Amino acid sequence: MTFKEVIYGRRAVNFFDPEKDVSELLLNEMIEMGAQAPSGFNIQPWSLIVLKEHADKMRLQKHAWNQPKVSEAPVTLIVLADTEGWKTGNPFLEKNFQEMVNSGAMTEEQRQWFYGVCDSLYGASEARKVAFSCKNTGFFAMSLMLAAKSLGLDTHPMDGFDIDAVRSEFKIPDNYWIPLLVSVGYFRSDQELTPPKWRKSVDEIIVRFD
Ligand SMILES: Cc1cc2nc3c(=O)[nH]c(=O)nc-3n(C[C@H](O)[C@H](O)[C@H](O)COP(=O)(O)O)c2cc1C
Repeated sequence: MTFKEVIYGRRAVNFFDPEKDVSELLLNEMIEMGAQAPSGFNIQPWSLIVLKEHADKMRLQKHAWNQPKVSEAPVTLIVLADTEGWKTGNPFLEKNFQEMVNSGAMTEEQRQWFYGVCDSLYGASEARKVAFSCKNTGFFAMSLMLAAKSLGLDTHPMDGFDIDAVRSEFKIPDNYWIPLLVSVGYFRSDQELTPPKWRKSVDEIIVRFD
């Protein structure tokens, strides 16, 4: 599959074959590929809760407008964005900066400067924290869905859910925003895929305001 085929072939599919499982190996490959997404300072503030058990998916579905695909898909992911991933002391931030020091990409002195930059860029307000976590996690989620397509899998992103109810149901700590759910599986062959949706043209996308 060429990259162009992946881009144009990915669709939010409404119907998943409940009989067709996604192997652990394939799921891990998809996640590893998705994790190649870029992130600010390579902080990677994303995590996934992986739901495969029918009962677990139903616990989620009841807070997700009862959308049947949540439980019909063999795997549904709760995508988490760490609003505090930029904070000094966060284990992944520290791991990341240590890796940079070890590889020579950062000096010990620069590390202190980076802490300050992260504070002011990402920690200045609640809105900035959510923006930091969600923009980076959005890239991850998109990479996941394109990786899935390239591996022969189909996906469906969803933000039609009650974030507070999902947080409480799965005991998700307050530092995580939940930007979306992604169902993963195989399109059900007895259903017809809707025609591709319209997209804004290049002219409609490019703007300026001065
Ligand atoms: C962040 C996000 C949230 C979405 N939430 C839902 C949803 O809750 N339910 C749904 O049926 N589709 C949802 N969609 C799917 C979109 O409607 C779909 O991607 C869009 O119409 C374009 O169709 P395509 O992905 O097949 O090209 C969501 C998509 C995104 C990116």
